[in-house]
Amino acid sequence: MSQFADRRSTSLWMGVGVAPNAAALRSDGECDVVVIGAGIAGISTAYELAIAGSRVMVIDRAKIAGGMTARTTAHLGAPCDDGTSVMIERRGEDISRRFYESQMAAIDRIEEIQSQESIDCDFRRLDGYLFQALNTDGKIIEDELDAACKIGIPVYRLVGVPLAHCEQQHVLRYPRQGTFHPLKYLKGLVAAIETKGGTFYADTAVESVEERDDGKVVVSAASGKVTARAAVVTTNSPIVDRFALHTKTAPYRTYAMALSIPKGAIPDALYWDTLDPYHYVRLQPGDDRTDYLIVGGGDHKSGEADDAEVRFQALEAWTRNLVPAVQEVTHRWSGQVLETIDHAAFIGRNPGNNNIYVHTGDSGQGITHGVVGAMINSSLILGRECKWVDVYEPSRKTLAGIGTYLSENLTPLKNFAEYLAPGELNSLSELKAGHGAIIRDGLSKIAAYRDEAGKLYARSAACTHVGCHLHWNSFETCWDCPCHGSHFAFDGTPLNAPAVGPLPEIEIPDRP
Ligand SMILES: Cc1cc2nc3c(=O)[nH]c(=O)nc-3n(C[C@H](O)[C@H](O)[C@H](O)COP(=O)(O)OP(=O)(O)OC[C@H]3O[C@@H](n4cnc5c(N)ncnc54)[C@H](O)[C@@H]3O)c2cc1C
Ligand code: FES
Repeated sequence: MSQFADRRSTSLWMGVGVAPNAAALRSDGECDVVVIGAGIAGISTAYELAIAGSRVMVIDRAKIAGGMTARTTAHLGAPCDDGTSVMIERRGEDISRRFYESQMAAIDRIEEIQSQESIDCDFRRLDGYLFQALNTDGKIIEDELDAACKIGIPVYRLVGVPLAHCEQQHVLRYPRQGTFHPLKYLKGLVAAIETKGGTFYADTAVESVEERDDGKVVVSAASGKVTARAAVVTTNSPIVDRFALHTKTAPYRTYAMALSIPKGAIPDALYWDTLDPYHYVRLQPGDDRTDYLIVGGGDHKSGEADDAEVRFQALEAWTRNLVPAVQEVTHRWSGQVLETIDHAAFIGRNPGNNNIYVHTGDSGQGITHGVVGAMINSSLILGRECKWVDVYEPSRKTLAGIGTYLSENLTPLKNFAEYLAPGELNSLSELKAGHGAIIRDGLSKIAAYRDEAGKLYARSAACTHVGCHLHWNSFETCWDCPCHGSHFAFDGTPLNAPAVGPLPEIEIPDRP
């Protein structure tokens, strides 16, 4: 049993307060552009607009940069993380080339901003190594090399990476990738935006975003309304539409951990292997003698497994095998990414609106996608040219992705069938302290959690987005929705979009 069995998800970044003084919205307001959701996508968008002279307001349901951005591992990698060869099959050579170019431009933009704004955020340009996983053949490396050459991605073929047992593995080296400390970077961006007159509101859940006949957008929260010329919805999974974009994305849980490692034990670089799901590894500076090795992987569809401990043990064993110099595990956390049917995010005008813009489908490249999204959406709002609009167009239909589309959309169908199944426990009296479970109550299902002190929380098990059946996540102590990525705290409070409303409380007698 790991030393962490009783500890909750804590990422390496969570101690950094990005805007600790941001207060809740308390009255109505007006601005040029209102940004909803303050992660990498929202804050980067606000920055691009603020430096162009727009008055921006940024609103977040929780704290600023406390969402998936606080759980990233922050590899800044430009090649499509699902494989360039796969992307060419789905989108062709021209779009795949421009996808790479836009992701590279995002790394350049981060480098430029941190330098211009003097943000001390551990930014480094690094080589990225894709290496043949142990006990697999080298075909993926061959395919990726061919694909990269076809569209002009700079890449070098090597044998061996400086990881144990990998001396003879086939490897591709991608130069000039990068990494940084995501929250230190965003803290610097927030300061720059505030200097330009932008304002941040935390603890303010946006309930609706509407476009009026006069073209203005009205964003409503319980404590006030904001009227603006445009709104950008960067809530990770969009709160503005029910189906159009959600049927083209699928939520996956991914796991990460940090281990201490003596400085200089392995070269500072990005490493990822050819497995599916792949392992991803990089260093983060620590103190004078020790760094952190961050490793991620173990992905599964959200809600379809509740075995974080097993996944962490596998990640740790894999790491100790390839990097024997690692010492103790210092942090463990999980989070979610939204995979799209053709591997690029959906960024641009929300289908059906003129002045509401969206950003979703981050995939494993949500940090670079966030920065690409900021460049695209700010250009569209400011009426400037942007050469990647068609790569990320939200209303696109990708015929080559139809198989993935159909298989991912079986999840909601399978999920609704679960309402007919029996509960996981027969009655609330079987629910132990510190556990969550689904319990049948007549025709409906209850999402029940009993805290360590024995207090019961009984909520509807139907997600408030479009009603999918929730699943308990014992590592995160929350309810995960397998359909489009909502998460709810044990008391029903929404934690992750697209859900906006809380799970309704169920009145039920508790006889422990
Ligand atoms: C373990 C892990 C490792 C990863 N590793 C990498 C990596 O190495 N490289 C990479 O590029 N990407 C990586 N990613 C992906 C990347 O971190 C994310 O895709 C990215 O941070 C998402 O940013 P975002 O701004 O879209 O969303 P978020 O950071 O989640 O921000 C969305 C915000 O919207 C707010 N919100 C939601 N609903 C509302 C509402 N109704 N009203 C107001 N606010 C609302 C939320 O509170 C949240 O703060 C990783 C992700 C995970 C989980
Ligand atoms: S997130 Fe869409 S139904 Fe739950």
